[in-house]
Amino acid sequence: MYVCICARVRECEVREAVRNGARCEEAVGEACGAGTGCGSCLPRIDEIIEVESRADTPVGAAR
Ligand code: FES
Repeated sequence: MYVCICARVRECEVREAVRNGARCEEAVGEACGAGTGCGSCLPRIDEIIEVESRADTPVGAAR
């Protein structure tokens, strides 16, 4: 499923960008192009960043 229609970027590509260190909209845009057009996909990109960043946090590290 596409997250960003403008740049034809799929959800899995955004997730991969986040896992590779992209932690904000700009970094995701640089990594895969998502969010660099009309901007209507940015809320969805934010969600993916949030979920993937959380998944990255080691158990017990949130103190
Ligand atoms: S849908 Fe992503 S920038 Fe337009």
